[in-house]
Amino acid sequence: MASYDVIVIGGGPGGYVCAIRCAQLGLRTACIEGRKTLGGTCLNVGCIPSKALLHATHQLHEAEHNFAAMGLKGKAPSVDWPAMQAFKAGVVEQNTKGIDFLFKKNKVERIEGWARIEAPGKVRVGDDLHEAANIVIATGSVPASLPGITIDEETIVSSTGALSLPKVPRRLVVVGAGVIGLELGSVYRRLGAEVTVIEYLDRITPGMDLELSKTLQRTLKKQGLSFVLGAAVQGVEKLKTKTKVTYKLRKTDAEHTVDADVVLVATGRRPYVEGLGLEALGVEMLPRGQIRVDANRQTSVPGIWAIGDVVPGPMLAHKAEDEGMAVAESIAGQKGHVNYDVIPSVIYTSPEVASVGRTEEELKEAGISYKVGKFSFMGNGRAKSMLAAEGFVKILANAETDRILGVHMIGPSVGELIQEACVAMEFGAAAEDLARTCHAHPTLSEAVREAALACGDGAIHA
Ligand code: NAI
Repeated sequence: MASYDVIVIGGGPGGYVCAIRCAQLGLRTACIEGRKTLGGTCLNVGCIPSKALLHATHQLHEAEHNFAAMGLKGKAPSVDWPAMQAFKAGVVEQNTKGIDFLFKKNKVERIEGWARIEAPGKVRVGDDLHEAANIVIATGSVPASLPGITIDEETIVSSTGALSLPKVPRRLVVVGAGVIGLELGSVYRRLGAEVTVIEYLDRITPGMDLELSKTLQRTLKKQGLSFVLGAAVQGVEKLKTKTKVTYKLRKTDAEHTVDADVVLVATGRRPYVEGLGLEALGVEMLPRGQIRVDANRQTSVPGIWAIGDVVPGPMLAHKAEDEGMAVAESIAGQKGHVNYDVIPSVIYTSPEVASVGRTEEELKEAGISYKVGKFSFMGNGRAKSMLAAEGFVKILANAETDRILGVHMIGPSVGELIQEACVAMEFGAAAEDLARTCHAHPTLSEAVREAALACGDGAIHA
Protein backbone atom coordinates (compact mmCIF):
# COMPACT_ATOMS: atom_id res chain seq x y z
CA MET A 1 0.00 0.00 0.00
CA ALA A 2 1.44 3.35 -1.07
CA SER A 3 1.04 6.34 1.21
CA TYR A 4 0.89 10.03 0.29
CA ASP A 5 0.15 13.43 1.79
CA VAL A 6 -2.30 14.14 -1.03
CA ILE A 7 -4.12 12.07 -3.61
CA VAL A 8 -5.79 14.09 -6.34
CA ILE A 9 -8.53 12.23 -8.21
CA GLY A 10 -8.77 13.54 -11.76
CA GLY A 11 -6.03 14.82 -14.07
CA GLY A 12 -7.86 17.73 -15.74
CA PRO A 13 -6.92 21.40 -15.36
CA GLY A 14 -8.19 21.45 -11.77
CA GLY A 15 -6.57 18.18 -10.72
CA TYR A 16 -3.21 18.35 -12.47
CA VAL A 17 -2.62 21.96 -11.41
CA CYS A 18 -3.53 21.06 -7.82
CA ALA A 19 -1.16 18.06 -7.88
CA ILE A 20 1.75 20.10 -9.25
CA ARG A 21 1.23 22.87 -6.70
CA CYS A 22 0.97 20.30 -3.84
CA ALA A 23 4.30 18.77 -4.93
CA GLN A 24 5.88 22.22 -5.24
CA LEU A 25 4.80 22.93 -1.67
CA GLY A 26 6.66 19.83 -0.48
CA LEU A 27 3.72 17.41 -0.21
CA ARG A 28 4.09 13.79 -1.39
CA THR A 29 1.47 13.75 -4.11
CA ALA A 30 -0.21 11.28 -6.46
CA CYS A 31 -2.75 12.02 -9.18
CA ILE A 32 -5.16 9.29 -10.27
CA GLU A 33 -6.56 9.53 -13.80
CA GLY A 34 -8.74 6.97 -15.58
CA ARG A 35 -8.00 8.18 -19.12
CA LYS A 36 -4.79 7.03 -20.79
CA THR A 37 -3.73 10.66 -21.18
CA LEU A 38 -3.70 13.50 -18.66
CA GLY A 39 -5.49 16.82 -19.19
CA GLY A 40 -9.11 15.82 -18.65
CA THR A 41 -11.95 17.03 -20.84
CA CYS A 42 -10.24 20.35 -21.54
CA LEU A 43 -7.10 19.00 -23.18
CA ASN A 44 -8.49 15.77 -24.64
CA VAL A 45 -12.00 16.59 -25.85
CA GLY A 46 -12.71 20.22 -24.98
CA CYS A 47 -10.87 23.54 -24.90
CA ILE A 48 -7.73 22.52 -26.76
CA PRO A 49 -9.02 20.42 -29.69
CA SER A 50 -11.88 22.88 -30.25
CA LYS A 51 -9.39 25.75 -30.41
CA ALA A 52 -7.34 23.86 -33.01
CA LEU A 53 -10.45 23.51 -35.20
CA LEU A 54 -11.54 27.10 -34.52
CA HIS A 55 -8.11 28.39 -35.48
CA ALA A 56 -7.85 26.30 -38.65
CA THR A 57 -11.32 27.23 -39.86
CA HIS A 58 -10.76 30.89 -38.96
CA GLN A 59 -7.73 30.84 -41.26
CA LEU A 60 -9.96 29.38 -43.98
CA HIS A 61 -12.51 32.14 -43.40
CA GLU A 62 -9.77 34.76 -43.66
CA ALA A 63 -8.55 33.26 -46.92
CA GLU A 64 -12.07 33.13 -48.35
CA HIS A 65 -13.24 36.54 -47.20
CA ASN A 66 -10.33 38.87 -46.46
CA PHE A 67 -7.27 37.83 -48.46
CA ALA A 68 -8.35 39.41 -51.74
CA ALA A 69 -9.06 42.72 -50.00
CA MET A 70 -5.47 42.67 -48.66
CA GLY A 71 -4.06 42.07 -52.11
CA LEU A 72 -3.58 38.35 -51.66
CA LYS A 73 -4.91 36.77 -54.81
CA GLY A 74 -5.46 33.15 -55.79
CA LYS A 75 -7.73 30.30 -54.88
CA ALA A 76 -8.71 29.87 -51.23
CA PRO A 77 -7.39 26.63 -49.71
CA SER A 78 -9.63 23.57 -49.82
CA VAL A 79 -10.41 21.53 -46.72
CA ASP A 80 -8.70 18.20 -46.14
CA TRP A 81 -10.81 17.08 -43.18
CA PRO A 82 -8.69 14.06 -42.15
CA ALA A 83 -5.60 16.29 -42.22
CA MET A 84 -7.36 18.90 -40.09
CA GLN A 85 -8.32 16.16 -37.65
CA ALA A 86 -4.69 15.00 -37.58
CA PHE A 87 -3.56 18.57 -36.87
CA LYS A 88 -6.05 18.69 -33.99
CA ALA A 89 -4.86 15.32 -32.63
CA GLY A 90 -1.24 16.47 -32.78
CA VAL A 91 -2.04 19.60 -30.79
CA VAL A 92 -3.84 17.49 -28.17
CA GLU A 93 -0.94 15.04 -27.95
CA GLN A 94 1.65 17.77 -27.44
CA ASN A 95 -0.42 19.25 -24.63
CA THR A 96 -1.24 16.01 -22.81
CA LYS A 97 2.39 14.83 -23.05
CA GLY A 98 3.42 18.19 -21.67
CA ILE A 99 1.59 17.36 -18.44
CA ASP A 100 3.38 13.99 -18.18
CA PHE A 101 6.60 15.95 -18.37
CA LEU A 102 5.44 18.44 -15.71
CA PHE A 103 4.46 15.57 -13.40
CA LYS A 104 7.91 14.01 -13.75
CA LYS A 105 9.61 17.35 -13.27
CA ASN A 106 7.63 18.07 -10.09
CA LYS A 107 7.69 14.47 -8.83
CA VAL A 108 3.95 13.95 -8.91
CA GLU A 109 3.23 10.23 -9.04
CA ARG A 110 0.75 9.34 -11.75
CA ILE A 111 -1.60 6.43 -11.09
CA GLU A 112 -3.64 5.16 -14.04
CA GLY A 113 -7.15 3.84 -13.36
CA TRP A 114 -10.54 4.78 -11.97
CA ALA A 115 -10.55 5.69 -8.29
CA ARG A 116 -13.03 4.91 -5.55
CA ILE A 117 -12.79 6.41 -2.08
CA GLU A 118 -13.27 3.50 0.33
CA ALA A 119 -12.97 5.55 3.50
CA PRO A 120 -11.49 8.91 4.46
CA GLY A 121 -7.79 8.57 3.66
CA LYS A 122 -8.19 5.41 1.56
CA VAL A 123 -8.52 5.28 -2.24
CA ARG A 124 -8.87 2.10 -4.29
CA VAL A 125 -7.77 1.76 -7.91
CA GLY A 126 -8.48 -1.78 -9.10
CA ASP A 127 -6.71 -4.15 -6.68
CA ASP A 128 -4.51 -1.45 -5.20
CA LEU A 129 -5.32 0.52 -2.10
CA HIS A 130 -3.60 3.89 -1.62
CA GLU A 131 -3.49 6.03 1.51
CA ALA A 132 -3.38 9.79 1.88
CA ALA A 133 -4.14 12.28 4.62
CA ASN A 134 -5.89 14.45 2.03
CA ILE A 135 -7.99 13.50 -0.96
CA VAL A 136 -8.93 16.09 -3.59
CA ILE A 137 -11.87 15.30 -5.88
CA ALA A 138 -11.35 16.93 -9.28
CA THR A 139 -13.39 14.64 -11.50
CA GLY A 140 -14.99 17.34 -13.66
CA SER A 141 -18.20 17.07 -15.62
CA VAL A 142 -19.90 15.24 -18.47
CA PRO A 143 -22.40 16.48 -21.06
CA ALA A 144 -25.96 16.69 -19.78
CA SER A 145 -28.40 15.54 -22.43
CA LEU A 146 -32.13 16.21 -22.56
CA PRO A 147 -34.77 13.73 -21.42
CA GLY A 148 -35.65 11.32 -24.22
CA ILE A 149 -32.55 12.14 -26.30
CA THR A 150 -29.83 9.51 -26.37
CA ILE A 151 -26.41 10.68 -27.43
CA ASP A 152 -24.79 8.05 -29.69
CA GLU A 153 -21.76 10.22 -30.61
CA GLU A 154 -22.44 9.42 -34.27
CA THR A 155 -25.47 11.36 -35.48
CA ILE A 156 -26.62 12.68 -32.11
CA VAL A 157 -23.44 14.00 -30.57
CA SER A 158 -22.12 15.87 -27.57
CA SER A 159 -19.12 18.17 -27.92
CA THR A 160 -16.91 15.05 -27.75
CA GLY A 161 -18.43 13.49 -30.88
CA ALA A 162 -18.70 16.86 -32.61
CA LEU A 163 -14.92 17.28 -32.44
CA SER A 164 -14.33 14.05 -34.36
CA LEU A 165 -17.11 13.71 -36.92
CA PRO A 166 -16.08 11.41 -39.79
CA LYS A 167 -17.03 14.14 -42.29
CA VAL A 168 -18.41 17.65 -42.36
CA PRO A 169 -22.21 17.32 -42.16
CA ARG A 170 -24.38 19.08 -44.73
CA ARG A 171 -26.96 20.10 -42.10
CA LEU A 172 -26.01 20.51 -38.44
CA VAL A 173 -28.65 21.27 -35.84
CA VAL A 174 -27.28 22.57 -32.56
CA VAL A 175 -29.47 22.32 -29.46
CA GLY A 176 -28.48 25.08 -27.02
CA ALA A 177 -27.00 28.50 -27.87
CA GLY A 178 -24.36 28.39 -25.14
CA VAL A 179 -20.61 28.40 -25.46
CA ILE A 180 -20.19 24.91 -26.93
CA GLY A 181 -23.04 25.27 -29.42
CA LEU A 182 -21.77 28.57 -30.78
CA GLU A 183 -18.09 27.62 -30.93
CA LEU A 184 -18.65 24.28 -32.67
CA GLY A 185 -21.52 25.68 -34.72
CA SER A 186 -19.06 28.31 -36.03
CA VAL A 187 -16.50 25.65 -36.91
CA TYR A 188 -18.93 23.67 -39.06
CA ARG A 189 -20.50 26.78 -40.61
CA ARG A 190 -17.07 27.86 -41.79
CA LEU A 191 -16.57 24.39 -43.22
CA GLY A 192 -19.73 24.79 -45.26
CA ALA A 193 -22.46 23.14 -43.14
CA GLU A 194 -25.93 24.66 -42.84
CA VAL A 195 -26.14 25.36 -39.12
CA THR A 196 -29.39 25.89 -37.19
CA VAL A 197 -29.14 26.70 -33.50
CA ILE A 198 -32.24 26.01 -31.40
CA GLU A 199 -32.32 27.74 -28.01
CA TYR A 200 -34.88 27.45 -25.21
CA LEU A 201 -34.53 31.05 -24.01
CA ASP A 202 -35.33 34.19 -26.03
CA ARG A 203 -31.65 35.07 -26.23
CA ILE A 204 -28.33 33.37 -26.84
CA THR A 205 -25.56 32.94 -24.21
CA PRO A 206 -27.66 33.39 -21.05
CA GLY A 207 -25.87 35.16 -18.23
CA MET A 208 -23.77 37.24 -20.59
CA ASP A 209 -24.21 41.03 -20.79
CA LEU A 210 -27.26 41.37 -23.05
CA GLU A 211 -25.75 43.97 -25.40
CA LEU A 212 -22.85 41.58 -26.03
CA SER A 213 -25.21 38.64 -26.63
CA LYS A 214 -27.26 40.63 -29.13
CA THR A 215 -24.16 41.82 -31.00
CA LEU A 216 -22.77 38.28 -31.10
CA GLN A 217 -26.04 36.91 -32.45
CA ARG A 218 -26.15 39.55 -35.20
CA THR A 219 -22.56 38.77 -36.16
CA LEU A 220 -23.09 35.00 -36.24
CA LYS A 221 -26.24 35.48 -38.28
CA LYS A 222 -24.24 37.46 -40.83
CA GLN A 223 -21.84 34.52 -40.96
CA GLY A 224 -24.73 32.29 -41.93
CA LEU A 225 -25.83 30.60 -38.69
CA SER A 226 -29.64 30.44 -38.25
CA PHE A 227 -31.22 30.84 -34.86
CA VAL A 228 -34.54 29.59 -33.51
CA LEU A 229 -35.01 31.20 -30.10
CA GLY A 230 -37.67 30.55 -27.47
CA ALA A 231 -37.96 26.95 -28.61
CA ALA A 232 -38.01 23.84 -26.47
CA VAL A 233 -36.59 20.78 -28.20
CA GLN A 234 -39.04 17.92 -27.76
CA GLY A 235 -37.19 15.06 -29.31
CA VAL A 236 -34.75 13.83 -31.89
CA GLU A 237 -35.76 10.99 -34.18
CA LYS A 238 -33.26 8.95 -36.16
CA LEU A 239 -34.65 8.01 -39.58
CA LYS A 240 -32.94 5.99 -42.34
CA THR A 241 -31.30 8.87 -44.17
CA LYS A 242 -31.63 11.78 -41.78
CA THR A 243 -32.38 12.85 -38.25
CA LYS A 244 -35.48 14.86 -37.38
CA VAL A 245 -35.50 17.39 -34.55
CA THR A 246 -38.87 18.43 -33.15
CA TYR A 247 -39.25 21.63 -31.18
CA LYS A 248 -42.10 23.67 -29.77
CA LEU A 249 -42.13 27.46 -29.89
CA ARG A 250 -42.78 28.56 -26.33
CA LYS A 251 -44.85 31.62 -27.27
CA THR A 252 -47.35 29.92 -29.58
CA ASP A 253 -47.00 26.27 -28.57
CA ALA A 254 -46.66 25.51 -32.29
CA GLU A 255 -44.66 22.39 -33.07
CA HIS A 256 -42.02 22.42 -35.84
CA THR A 257 -39.44 20.03 -37.18
CA VAL A 258 -36.07 20.51 -38.79
CA ASP A 259 -33.97 17.91 -40.60
CA ALA A 260 -30.35 17.31 -39.79
CA ASP A 261 -27.48 15.04 -40.70
CA VAL A 262 -25.93 15.58 -37.29
CA VAL A 263 -27.47 16.96 -34.10
CA LEU A 264 -25.16 18.50 -31.50
CA VAL A 265 -26.70 18.52 -28.03
CA ALA A 266 -25.01 21.37 -26.11
CA THR A 267 -27.41 22.04 -23.26
CA GLY A 268 -24.90 22.18 -20.46
CA ARG A 269 -22.79 19.78 -18.43
CA ARG A 270 -23.29 18.02 -15.09
CA PRO A 271 -20.80 17.11 -12.36
CA TYR A 272 -19.17 13.70 -12.83
CA VAL A 273 -19.10 11.91 -9.48
CA GLU A 274 -20.29 8.40 -10.38
CA GLY A 275 -18.26 5.55 -8.95
CA LEU A 276 -16.40 7.64 -6.38
CA GLY A 277 -18.37 6.15 -3.48
CA LEU A 278 -19.48 9.54 -2.14
CA GLU A 279 -22.87 8.38 -0.92
CA ALA A 280 -21.42 5.64 1.28
CA LEU A 281 -18.93 8.14 2.69
CA GLY A 282 -21.74 10.56 3.53
CA VAL A 283 -20.30 13.39 1.44
CA GLU A 284 -23.02 16.04 1.35
CA MET A 285 -24.34 16.91 -2.10
CA LEU A 286 -26.29 19.92 -3.40
CA PRO A 287 -29.63 19.57 -5.20
CA ARG A 288 -28.02 20.14 -8.62
CA GLY A 289 -25.65 17.20 -8.17
CA GLN A 290 -22.64 19.21 -7.06
CA ILE A 291 -20.53 18.44 -4.01
CA ARG A 292 -21.15 20.87 -1.14
CA VAL A 293 -17.93 22.55 -0.01
CA ASP A 294 -17.09 25.27 2.51
CA ALA A 295 -15.18 28.47 1.73
CA ASN A 296 -11.91 26.47 1.79
CA ARG A 297 -13.32 23.86 -0.61
CA GLN A 298 -13.52 21.16 2.09
CA THR A 299 -16.38 18.72 1.76
CA SER A 300 -18.53 17.65 4.71
CA VAL A 301 -16.07 14.78 5.33
CA PRO A 302 -12.78 15.91 6.93
CA GLY A 303 -9.74 15.32 4.72
CA ILE A 304 -11.78 15.27 1.51
CA TRP A 305 -11.68 18.38 -0.69
CA ALA A 306 -13.39 19.15 -4.00
CA ILE A 307 -12.63 21.59 -6.85
CA GLY A 308 -13.66 22.49 -10.39
CA ASP A 309 -16.80 21.37 -12.22
CA VAL A 310 -17.94 19.10 -9.34
CA VAL A 311 -18.51 22.13 -7.09
CA PRO A 312 -20.67 25.24 -7.71
CA GLY A 313 -19.48 28.10 -9.91
CA PRO A 314 -18.74 28.51 -13.60
CA MET A 315 -17.61 25.29 -15.30
CA LEU A 316 -14.38 26.79 -16.60
CA ALA A 317 -10.89 25.29 -16.71
CA HIS A 318 -9.25 28.41 -15.26
CA LYS A 319 -11.68 28.53 -12.33
CA ALA A 320 -10.78 24.88 -11.60
CA GLU A 321 -7.06 25.67 -11.86
CA ASP A 322 -7.38 28.52 -9.36
CA GLU A 323 -9.29 26.31 -6.96
CA GLY A 324 -6.64 23.59 -7.41
CA MET A 325 -3.88 25.96 -6.39
CA ALA A 326 -5.93 27.30 -3.48
CA VAL A 327 -6.62 23.81 -2.11
CA ALA A 328 -2.94 22.89 -2.39
CA GLU A 329 -2.10 25.99 -0.38
CA SER A 330 -4.76 25.21 2.23
CA ILE A 331 -3.46 21.64 2.62
CA ALA A 332 0.08 23.01 3.02
CA GLY A 333 -1.14 25.24 5.86
CA GLN A 334 -1.28 28.45 3.84
CA LYS A 335 -4.35 30.57 3.08
CA GLY A 336 -5.67 29.46 -0.31
CA HIS A 337 -7.86 32.08 -1.94
CA VAL A 338 -9.89 32.45 -5.15
CA ASN A 339 -11.42 35.79 -6.15
CA TYR A 340 -14.70 34.65 -7.67
CA ASP A 341 -15.54 38.24 -8.65
CA VAL A 342 -12.76 38.29 -11.22
CA ILE A 343 -13.12 35.14 -13.32
CA PRO A 344 -13.08 35.94 -17.03
CA SER A 345 -15.08 34.04 -19.60
CA VAL A 346 -14.29 33.87 -23.28
CA ILE A 347 -16.15 32.55 -26.31
CA TYR A 348 -13.72 31.72 -29.09
CA THR A 349 -15.93 32.59 -32.03
CA SER A 350 -14.73 35.13 -34.62
CA PRO A 351 -14.85 37.78 -33.41
CA GLU A 352 -14.15 36.58 -29.90
CA VAL A 353 -16.29 37.54 -26.93
CA ALA A 354 -14.87 38.15 -23.45
CA SER A 355 -16.31 39.25 -20.13
CA VAL A 356 -15.29 39.74 -16.53
CA GLY A 357 -17.23 41.04 -13.56
CA ARG A 358 -20.82 42.20 -13.49
CA THR A 359 -23.14 42.70 -16.45
CA GLU A 360 -25.37 45.76 -16.89
CA GLU A 361 -28.38 43.58 -16.05
CA GLU A 362 -26.78 42.44 -12.77
CA LEU A 363 -25.86 46.00 -11.76
CA LYS A 364 -29.40 47.22 -12.47
CA GLU A 365 -30.85 44.39 -10.44
CA ALA A 366 -28.51 45.12 -7.53
CA GLY A 367 -29.46 48.82 -7.68
CA ILE A 368 -25.84 49.91 -8.14
CA SER A 369 -25.48 53.14 -10.11
CA TYR A 370 -22.88 52.80 -12.82
CA LYS A 371 -21.50 54.60 -15.84
CA VAL A 372 -20.67 53.09 -19.19
CA GLY A 373 -17.52 53.75 -21.20
CA LYS A 374 -17.72 52.24 -24.65
CA PHE A 375 -15.36 52.22 -27.59
CA SER A 376 -15.81 50.68 -31.02
CA PHE A 377 -12.96 48.84 -32.76
CA MET A 378 -13.87 51.04 -35.78
CA GLY A 379 -11.82 53.74 -34.06
CA ASN A 380 -8.81 51.46 -33.59
CA GLY A 381 -6.17 51.67 -36.30
CA ARG A 382 -4.65 48.27 -35.63
CA ALA A 383 -8.03 46.51 -35.90
CA LYS A 384 -8.66 48.29 -39.20
CA SER A 385 -5.29 47.17 -40.56
CA MET A 386 -6.33 43.59 -39.74
CA LEU A 387 -9.75 43.99 -41.42
CA ALA A 388 -11.18 43.12 -38.01
CA ALA A 389 -12.73 46.37 -36.82
CA GLU A 390 -16.01 44.75 -35.80
CA GLY A 391 -17.06 44.97 -32.15
CA PHE A 392 -16.50 47.11 -29.08
CA VAL A 393 -15.16 47.30 -25.54
CA LYS A 394 -17.54 48.30 -22.78
CA ILE A 395 -16.39 49.20 -19.28
CA LEU A 396 -18.90 49.50 -16.44
CA ALA A 397 -17.63 51.59 -13.54
CA ASN A 398 -19.21 52.68 -10.29
CA ALA A 399 -20.89 56.05 -10.89
CA GLU A 400 -19.52 57.52 -7.67
CA THR A 401 -16.16 55.85 -7.08
CA ASP A 402 -15.16 55.08 -10.71
CA ARG A 403 -14.13 51.56 -9.61
CA ILE A 404 -14.36 49.06 -12.48
CA LEU A 405 -17.25 46.67 -11.92
CA GLY A 406 -17.42 44.80 -15.22
CA VAL A 407 -15.78 44.71 -18.64
CA HIS A 408 -17.41 43.23 -21.73
CA MET A 409 -15.87 42.98 -25.16
CA ILE A 410 -16.51 41.59 -28.59
CA GLY A 411 -13.85 41.95 -31.24
CA PRO A 412 -10.43 40.78 -32.42
CA SER A 413 -8.36 38.91 -29.80
CA VAL A 414 -10.52 40.12 -26.92
CA GLY A 415 -9.83 36.78 -25.22
CA GLU A 416 -6.35 38.18 -24.66
CA LEU A 417 -7.38 41.80 -24.04
CA ILE A 418 -9.70 40.81 -21.19
CA GLN A 419 -6.68 39.94 -19.02
CA GLU A 420 -5.83 43.62 -18.73
CA ALA A 421 -9.27 44.20 -17.24
CA CYS A 422 -8.78 41.22 -14.88
CA VAL A 423 -5.49 42.57 -13.56
CA ALA A 424 -7.01 46.02 -13.11
CA MET A 425 -10.02 44.61 -11.24
CA GLU A 426 -7.83 42.36 -9.09
CA PHE A 427 -6.01 45.50 -7.97
CA GLY A 428 -9.31 47.32 -7.36
CA ALA A 429 -8.59 49.81 -10.16
CA ALA A 430 -10.75 52.75 -11.16
CA ALA A 431 -11.49 53.34 -14.85
CA GLU A 432 -9.19 56.36 -14.59
CA ASP A 433 -6.28 54.07 -13.63
CA LEU A 434 -6.65 52.26 -16.97
CA ALA A 435 -7.21 55.53 -18.80
CA ARG A 436 -3.97 56.99 -17.42
CA THR A 437 -1.91 53.89 -18.25
CA CYS A 438 0.13 54.41 -21.41
CA HIS A 439 -0.82 51.79 -24.04
CA ALA A 440 1.46 51.00 -26.97
CA HIS A 441 0.35 52.28 -30.36
CA PRO A 442 -0.85 50.75 -32.59
CA THR A 443 -2.35 47.88 -30.58
CA LEU A 444 -5.82 46.45 -30.09
CA SER A 445 -5.40 47.16 -26.37
CA GLU A 446 -5.82 50.88 -27.06
CA ALA A 447 -9.53 50.13 -27.42
CA VAL A 448 -9.57 49.15 -23.73
CA ARG A 449 -7.91 52.39 -22.75
CA GLU A 450 -10.31 54.38 -24.93
CA ALA A 451 -13.29 52.69 -23.23
CA ALA A 452 -11.76 53.66 -19.89
CA LEU A 453 -11.31 57.24 -21.13
CA ALA A 454 -14.99 57.16 -22.16
CA CYS A 455 -15.87 56.58 -18.49
CA GLY A 456 -14.33 59.99 -17.76
CA ASP A 457 -13.83 63.02 -20.01
CA GLY A 458 -14.32 61.05 -23.20
CA ALA A 459 -12.46 58.81 -25.67
CA ILE A 460 -10.09 60.51 -28.08
CA HIS A 461 -10.80 58.53 -31.24
CA ALA A 462 -14.58 58.30 -31.01
P1 NAI B 1 -24.22 26.40 -21.57
O1 NAI B 1 -24.77 26.34 -20.23
O2 NAI B 1 -23.20 27.41 -21.93
O3 NAI B 1 -25.41 26.57 -22.64
C1 NAI B 1 -26.48 25.67 -22.74
C2 NAI B 1 -27.60 26.33 -23.50
O4 NAI B 1 -28.60 25.36 -23.78
C3 NAI B 1 -28.29 27.44 -22.71
O5 NAI B 1 -28.36 28.58 -23.53
C4 NAI B 1 -29.66 26.85 -22.39
O6 NAI B 1 -30.65 27.83 -22.28
C5 NAI B 1 -29.88 25.94 -23.59
N1 NAI B 1 -30.87 24.87 -23.40
C6 NAI B 1 -31.06 24.12 -22.30
N2 NAI B 1 -32.07 23.25 -22.50
C7 NAI B 1 -32.54 23.43 -23.77
C8 NAI B 1 -33.57 22.85 -24.57
N3 NAI B 1 -34.35 21.88 -24.12
N4 NAI B 1 -33.76 23.29 -25.83
C9 NAI B 1 -32.99 24.29 -26.31
N5 NAI B 1 -32.00 24.89 -25.60
C10 NAI B 1 -31.76 24.47 -24.35
O7 NAI B 1 -23.67 24.92 -21.86
P2 NAI B 1 -22.70 24.33 -22.96
O8 NAI B 1 -22.56 25.24 -24.13
O9 NAI B 1 -23.16 22.93 -23.18
O10 NAI B 1 -21.30 24.31 -22.20
C11 NAI B 1 -21.13 23.52 -21.03
C12 NAI B 1 -20.10 24.13 -20.13
O11 NAI B 1 -18.82 24.11 -20.71
C13 NAI B 1 -20.43 25.56 -19.78
O12 NAI B 1 -20.34 25.74 -18.41
C14 NAI B 1 -19.38 26.35 -20.50
O13 NAI B 1 -19.03 27.53 -19.79
C15 NAI B 1 -18.22 25.38 -20.61
N6 NAI B 1 -17.46 25.68 -21.80
C16 NAI B 1 -16.69 26.79 -21.83
C17 NAI B 1 -16.01 27.15 -22.96
C18 NAI B 1 -15.22 28.41 -22.96
O14 NAI B 1 -14.94 28.94 -21.90
N7 NAI B 1 -14.85 28.95 -24.11
C19 NAI B 1 -16.08 26.34 -24.18
C20 NAI B 1 -16.96 25.23 -24.06
C21 NAI B 1 -17.61 24.92 -22.90
